[in-house]
Amino acid sequence: MVVQQALEQVPFFSQLPAAQITELAQMGRNVSLAAGEIVCHEGELSDSMYVLLGGKVTVYRHDKAGKRVDLRQFGAGDYFGEVALLDSKPRTATVACLTACELFVLEQAVFREVLTANPSLIFSVLVAVADRVRERIEQHYQVELENQALEAQAEIERHRSIAQMVAGVAHELNTPLGITNTAVDMIVKRINRPEIAALFEQSSQSKKVLDNIQEATSLAQRNIARAHKLIQEFKKISVNQVVDTLQQEDLPELVACTVDLFTINARQARLTIEIDNQLPAGRQTWLGYPGYLTQVLLNLLTNVERYAYEPGSGGKVDIILTADYLHPTPTFTLTVRDFGQGIAPENLDRVFEPFFTTGRTKGGTGLGLAIVHNIVTAALQGEIGLSSKPGEGTAFTITFPQTLT
Ligand SMILES: Nc1ncnc2c1ncn2[C@@H]1O[C@H](COP(=O)(O)OP(=O)(O)OP(=O)(O)O)[C@@H](O)[C@H]1O
Ligand SMILES: [Mg+2]
Repeated sequence: MVVQQALEQVPFFSQLPAAQITELAQMGRNVSLAAGEIVCHEGELSDSMYVLLGGKVTVYRHDKAGKRVDLRQFGAGDYFGEVALLDSKPRTATVACLTACELFVLEQAVFREVLTANPSLIFSVLVAVADRVRERIEQHYQVELENQALEAQAEIERHRSIAQMVAGVAHELNTPLGITNTAVDMIVKRINRPEIAALFEQSSQSKKVLDNIQEATSLAQRNIARAHKLIQEFKKISVNQVVDTLQQEDLPELVACTVDLFTINARQARLTIEIDNQLPAGRQTWLGYPGYLTQVLLNLLTNVERYAYEPGSGGKVDIILTADYLHPTPTFTLTVRDFGQGIAPENLDRVFEPFFTTGRTKGGTGLGLAIVHNIVTAALQGEIGLSSKPGEGTAFTITFPQTLT
C-alpha cells in the first residue's frame, strides 16, 4: 500500500487536500520490520503514531501476574499509537510484527507542524480520538458485562449444586430413617403388650428396666420425628422437589393473600406490614408460579419476625411492588424491607448459603434464604438482591419476568 493511500484512510487526515497528504507522506518515515520484531514496547515513552502499509501486527500487554494478554491485531491500512501524538505518555501496550511489516511513522514534532499549518485539522483529530476512546470504553463495558453475567451464572450454578446435594442426601436418609422408625415402633408396640408388661412388673428392678426402655424409645421416636421434619425441609431446598403450576395471577392480590396467611405471626410479633403497590392499574397480571412466590415471601417475613426486631418489640415491614416495562423482558420487582437490626457486613455474602444461620438457638436451620435464592433464580427466572446496614434494617429485592415460560 502506498503511503498517500494509507494516510487518506486515517480518519483525521482524510479531510486534507491531496497536496497536503503528499507533503505529510514526505514528512514521516518508512520502516521495514521482520516478523517477530517489536514496533513499540509497553511502558516506553512514545511520541509517534504508526500507519501499517503492509503486514500484520499484534497488540498485547501483561497483566498484574505478568501473563501476556493479547488485545487485538492490525493489518494493512490500520493505524495505531495516535494518542502519542497528543500526550507523549508511556505506551500502554506492546506492538509486535506477526509477519514482515511496512510501517509509516509520523513523529509528534512533524504532526504538530501540520496541525499548526491546518488548524481545522484539530477538530478532526479530536473526533477521531474520541471515536477510538468511545470504541474502547464500549469494548470494556461489553467485557465487564459478560464477566458479570458469567460470575452471576457461576454463582447460581454453585447454589444449585449445593442445593441438589442437600436434597439428594436428604432423600437418601429417608429410607434408613423410615426403617429405624418402623423398628422403634415395633419395640414400643411389643413392650406395651399386657403380657410383656406383666413380665416386667414382677420385680422393682425389672420394672425399672421397662421404664428405661420406654424412656429410651420415646426419646428415639421424638428424635426420629425431628430428623424427619428436617429432612422434609432439606428436600424443599431443591426446587425440583416442589411442584407448582404456571398460572395467571393478579400480583398485588397474591401478595396480599400471602400477607394474610402471615397475619397471626405478624400480630404475635407486633409487625405492621404495609403493601405499597406502585403497579399501574391494568398492568398487574403475572404469568408465574404463585406457590413459589408465596413460599419466598413467607420465608422473608419469617426472617423479619425472627431476626429484625427485638422479641416482643415489633416494628414495620414494607412490601413494595414496582414494574419495569422494558423490552424484551418486562419485569416486576418485589421488595421486602424492615427497619430492624440489619445484617452484619461480614454475613451479607453468606446468608444465602445453605445452613448459614445466626439463629440456631431460635430454631433456625439456615435453609430459608437458600431455598428463596433457588426459587427466585431457577423457578421464577429472576434475581435476588440484598442491602442491609446494621441498625438501619434490611431489604430483599426480587426481580422476575412478568411472563414466565
Ligand atoms: N430481615 C433480617 N434481618 C436480620 N437478619 C436476617 C434477616 N433475614 C435473614 N437474616 C439473617 O440471615 C440468616 C439466614 O437466614 P435463613 O432464612 O437462610 O436461615 P434461618 O432463618 O436462620 O433458618 P430457616 O430459614 O432455615 O428457619 C439468618 O440466620 C439471619 O442471620
Ligand atoms: Mg429463615
